[in-house]
Amino acid sequence: MTEHPTDETSRRVSTSDDIEVGTYLEIAQADRATGANPPVDIRWKTIVIVDFGSQYSRLIARRVRESNTYCEIIPHDAGNEILHEQDVIGVILSGGPNSVYEEGAPMAPAWVFDAGVPVLGICYGMQLIAHQLGGKVEPGTEHEYGHAVIHKDGRDNILFEGLDNEIPVWMSHGDRIEELPPGFRSLAYSENSPIAAMGNEQGTYFGIQFHPEVAHTPQGAEILRNFVFGVCEGTGDWTPENFVSDAIDRIKQRVGGGKVICALSGGVDSTVVAALIHRAIGDRLTCIFVDNGLMRRGEADRVQNVFVSQLGVNLIFVDGTERFLSALKGVIDPEIKRKAIGEEFIKVFEEVANDIGQVDYLAQGTVYPDVIESAGADSSASHKIKTHHNVGGLPERMNLKLIEPLRYMFKDEVRKAGAELGLTPQSVNRQPFPGPGLAIRIMGEVTYEKLEILRAVDWIVIDEVKADGLYDRLWQSFAVLTNTRTVGVMGDQRTYQYVVAIRAVTSEDAMTADWARLPYDTLARMSNRIVNEVPEVNRVVLDITSKPPGTIEWE
Ligand code: XMP
Repeated sequence: MTEHPTDETSRRVSTSDDIEVGTYLEIAQADRATGANPPVDIRWKTIVIVDFGSQYSRLIARRVRESNTYCEIIPHDAGNEILHEQDVIGVILSGGPNSVYEEGAPMAPAWVFDAGVPVLGICYGMQLIAHQLGGKVEPGTEHEYGHAVIHKDGRDNILFEGLDNEIPVWMSHGDRIEELPPGFRSLAYSENSPIAAMGNEQGTYFGIQFHPEVAHTPQGAEILRNFVFGVCEGTGDWTPENFVSDAIDRIKQRVGGGKVICALSGGVDSTVVAALIHRAIGDRLTCIFVDNGLMRRGEADRVQNVFVSQLGVNLIFVDGTERFLSALKGVIDPEIKRKAIGEEFIKVFEEVANDIGQVDYLAQGTVYPDVIESAGADSSASHKIKTHHNVGGLPERMNLKLIEPLRYMFKDEVRKAGAELGLTPQSVNRQPFPGPGLAIRIMGEVTYEKLEILRAVDWIVIDEVKADGLYDRLWQSFAVLTNTRTVGVMGDQRTYQYVVAIRAVTSEDAMTADWARLPYDTLARMSNRIVNEVPEVNRVVLDITSKPPGTIEWE
């Protein structure tokens, strides 16, 4: 089930439901032990990203995936299990905050250099290659942070193939390579790094001092593609068509003749999970949609229409509006709101699921960022996976096994899988919506009246955003109903009504976000329509806070 009250991006959730798990590796081991996501015959041509604690590791993974190549991030102290699970064609050593010559600095595992596959070291990763293969790394006298230009050394090399001789890059390092390891040569230099890139004679090991994964290195994606295709001989087999058919095979194999239930949120992740599972096992899937009364206008009807009319899925629809509203009565604290909604959801879901009879599996829309986020670079620390799929204890109580077909996919891949499955663009390109719904966009107590006001305002905001073709470019756009009233004048009448705020942000993954520079004309139309069409509102303000320091939602 996914997203109880759900959504696909959440990280802020009631903690009671968090499942204790460890690192990526422990997660993979747990997967194997429980038979979740079992390895099937297909082994993807895989780039392994060994994470040394860089803030950019996830970005490297995204870039590799963008070249239709499967990759996984593993912590630097992981064993070599991945070599047996997938067809590993190359390894990328990430950057990291340490210095290789420091006592206790994390090293690249020995198996990386024994695996007989190409290796690319980025920043700290490059220094590790130098240090571990017999070169010398020392603190640089000049630190290099930010924009720099590197100059290719005249000779051809496959990593920089097709690039200009001068390459603008993003640097972020203090140490530098003083001596190359035996068999290596310099491939580029910058003003402050005599060795800004290096490679071995065989053309299999490379190190680059800059970050190819960030947007500030405009040709970085090209460099990573050169590594993936030129050096590692990737074939670009991780396509939506392939990963969808692989996921369907895995689901069939895993579920056999069993039965699956899946909670729908209306969000992209649960929609795609349900569509995938339905494609794999048809009527043995039952979906449950709990209308908590905190949804947007028309949302409950839309979900029914997509699943019943378009997909022909078995759907149990539960109208829980009254139950949720009474659970929220008098509640003001945002975390208590979340908790109340989460608990009510579990109760409703469990009642419904119990009525279905024998069920074997519970499907969830966990996606790769949830997995990565819940683990760190250091597997010695214990981490928590935050499930916003708050089914707290339900799988154990009902003796259900979890099935998470999107566990290794990024959001954009989930959307592509959805399109591949024939879902409409409206379904797959929806902006994320938080599980607790409009409750966390209503400051103070949530009442039916306030929900109706906010639904009316939200409708106008989305309507105008869509009318101006901005919907797909924004991570989220919505309205917040504040607890403040102000004086206004309408006709000859003095008014004393609510203030609403417009919030629109751009973001890659909701970890950070910037407030969107909506055109003034769009804002003007929104504001006019809101005060004219929603009598309970007489003032509209714009939220111009980025994240951090703000969060996307107000509560
Ligand atoms: P914040 O407000 O933390 O939001 O910047 C980041 C993303 O998560 C969504 N969000 C939630 N989703 N349950 C959810 O399912 C929640 O409690 C929750 N809180 C925030 C938010 O919409 C944004 O996409």
